[in-house]
Amino acid sequence: MKVKVNDVAIDVAPGTSVIDAVFAAGHDVPYFCSQEYMSPIGACRMCLAKIGAPRKDRGSDEWILDEETGEPKIFWFPNPMATCTTQVMEGMVVDTISKEVKRAQNAMVEFTLVNHPLDCPTCDKGGACELQDRAYEYGTGESRFVFDKRHQEKHHALSELITLDRERCIHCKRCVRYFEEVPGDEVLDFIERGGHTYIGTLEDGLPSPFTGNITDICPVGALLDSTSRFRGRNWEYHHTDTTSLDDPGGAALRVDSRTGRIERIKSGLNDDVNKTWIDDGTRFGHEYVDSEDRLTMPLVRKDGQLVPSSWPEAARVIAERLAGLDAKSIGIALRADATLEEGVAAKALAEHLETGRLDHAPRTAASVLPDGASATLRDVATSDALFVIGDPTEEAAIVDLRIKDALKGVAPAPLLPHGVPIADLRLTERMKRKSEILTICAPYRTDLMKHAGQVYVTPAGGEAALLKALADRAQVDDDGKAGVWDDACGMSEAQADKLLSALRSAKNAVLIWSSFVSNDVAADQAARQLAKAVGAKVLILGPMANAAGLERIGVLPSHDRYDYASMLTGETEALILSHLDPALNPAVADQLRGLALLVVHTPFRTATSELADVVLPAVTVYEKDGSTLNAEGRLLPVRAAPVEAGTAEDFMGVVKHLGEAMGIRLEGRGIKSARRVLKQLLGVDLNELPTTGQLLAPASRRGNAARPVQEQAKPEGGALVVPSMVRAEYIDRNPKLRAERGDAALRAHPATLHANGLTTGEVVTVPVGGVPRRLRIVSSEAVPEGLWLVPTLPDQPVGVYPLEPTAMQREVSETAEVA
Ligand code: SF4
Ligand code: FES
Repeated sequence: MKVKVNDVAIDVAPGTSVIDAVFAAGHDVPYFCSQEYMSPIGACRMCLAKIGAPRKDRGSDEWILDEETGEPKIFWFPNPMATCTTQVMEGMVVDTISKEVKRAQNAMVEFTLVNHPLDCPTCDKGGACELQDRAYEYGTGESRFVFDKRHQEKHHALSELITLDRERCIHCKRCVRYFEEVPGDEVLDFIERGGHTYIGTLEDGLPSPFTGNITDICPVGALLDSTSRFRGRNWEYHHTDTTSLDDPGGAALRVDSRTGRIERIKSGLNDDVNKTWIDDGTRFGHEYVDSEDRLTMPLVRKDGQLVPSSWPEAARVIAERLAGLDAKSIGIALRADATLEEGVAAKALAEHLETGRLDHAPRTAASVLPDGASATLRDVATSDALFVIGDPTEEAAIVDLRIKDALKGVAPAPLLPHGVPIADLRLTERMKRKSEILTICAPYRTDLMKHAGQVYVTPAGGEAALLKALADRAQVDDDGKAGVWDDACGMSEAQADKLLSALRSAKNAVLIWSSFVSNDVAADQAARQLAKAVGAKVLILGPMANAAGLERIGVLPSHDRYDYASMLTGETEALILSHLDPALNPAVADQLRGLALLVVHTPFRTATSELADVVLPAVTVYEKDGSTLNAEGRLLPVRAAPVEAGTAEDFMGVVKHLGEAMGIRLEGRGIKSARRVLKQLLGVDLNELPTTGQLLAPASRRGNAARPVQEQAKPEGGALVVPSMVRAEYIDRNPKLRAERGDAALRAHPATLHANGLTTGEVVTVPVGGVPRRLRIVSSEAVPEGLWLVPTLPDQPVGVYPLEPTAMQREVSETAEVA
């Protein structure tokens, strides 16, 4: 449609909002309540403009012409209009710069400021405040406020993580709409009326795992991240645009640091991945970085004690000790959130040492790479039939939000010259969701299930049985013969047929599965067969951020017998471990004590580092430069924030120092050399990688997909180790997140707790898979009776583990803090 904004004529698609037409034409209009990816509601009236349009004669259906110019006559609306809720019309004319419009804008700024306090000098939003900017650009510059303004509560803790200053709220309703429209958790609302209106919640706290995004979108300093409150001014922060290594979603992040410390994490914008949203685990899980026990220099064991050392000395000790060992008995393992560049470095070191004992952990029993191209997150958001096996909210939270996009049935809007549309008129408040397109199976009631049309709580460890039954049924359909269906898999025959028919008939069916499936080769094979049979795309959520990338570049053992688990069982003489802590398991710790050499690369002293001969200080995920591959196969950049971490290095640094001590130049000794190798392996120059990443062409799966089918442990009375958005291994070093989300929990059904004489809040220590876990009891009806849910640790992949309730050791004080 042809539209003229001031003096600029542009063509925009029908349905475009006038505010977007104004920005597309390169002009500006102030706004507060509109927000990318949310419904426009016309609440703040800040985006006023004068709008006119030609009109057709009702009788002749011809344009009414201006008598002087002979052009279609423009009929102006009598008053300035809210551009965010007005749709463009053919021939529309928009005026955003006339005196009349300026007067309206001046008046709206003044009106918005009527009850807004003048505490900008002490407000955390100062310098990054939309109201401050708009008042400067569109206000009169003079104040007529000689009266006292409204007073409201200024430090209201909406949760442990978010503080609300009620005086500063301008009632734009972004935060209220956000909860209903994005995560679908209606937790905030307006209370009272008129000048007394305030934002509040009827429940205690904010019961949603996506609360922090409201601090990004609040246009003023009303909603603030409590972890960074009063810690710095916006112009003092160093901004680092990077990618989350917290899970395989690959969300864009902005890390704000100051004087060598991370002060806060905000969401970055990546339209294809996380749009502009991140989960609370990702946003608030950074406090561990400057935990007091951070290692800043290498430690070398001398006379039985770990003593401070230097990198050259530590590397020399390692090189000398390695030289005397059988090369094949040396093991190297990285945690699965290492960057691709670190993976190259580990491979180069393994090749130089001529050992096939190289692995990343946790690594699932089956491959996390799909057979062909992966379903993208955009495929998920536009899918018309989704079958989810697992708990994406906890495993890759962005996938949860993209699934909720699909339920709205509105395809992602094309980008405009100014980027994401500011007011997408297809989005409305309280849109009807198409829950019927979503089917979820999981061994407990997941948060996402409340949005699904069909939910099945399957037996723990029973994914293989269900998927095999479905895959067989899908094949049977082809032959026209129906076999016997066993309801014990968690789904009835009729439900299975309904699901298969929905997947088959969909235009864009997507199967999403998690480590519950990938940790069981039989389940993985059945899931792949099912996807093939129904013509669905596949999205596999790996156990950690870069599991897919490390598998793709071959950070793998040369033989199954050499994998990470076998490295810990006495067949190795030396181990080099990065960010892994297997000694949490006392039986493994005994094995590690017998090693000729144990090198631990870690940001903190851990159970394993206490046994080490050499401890190397490691950078955290926020202090690395490199790249990662997310679940959909998108290469994404990881950038280091300027954080004070002493001499800590990533694994490339480890390899550089070891190479120097050995007198050789290993590939992966630095980012340039690692990227040279990655260019050969992946065909992509990672130096040129845009912040929003690049989809990588699919490759064939690696050898670990060919492992033999494993017997699963029996679930009765067992513990199910489950994924967790909040990383259990760091929870004690994240005090604010811990205060909000609680200690690492042992969740069980009330009946299970009753049967075992346990109550919510008690602290117990219980061995799970050999690792003593200190957990706080939480009663939850989401857990089937007889099952215990335990959040995963990197050394303890998801799945069913034996758990004996009688082996639980209870702490004396029921209110004791978990240390
Ligand atoms: S708290 Fe912020 S986002 Fe929420 S209505 Fe008030 S100004 Fe808007
Ligand atoms: S009325 Fe608020 S942005 Fe248009």
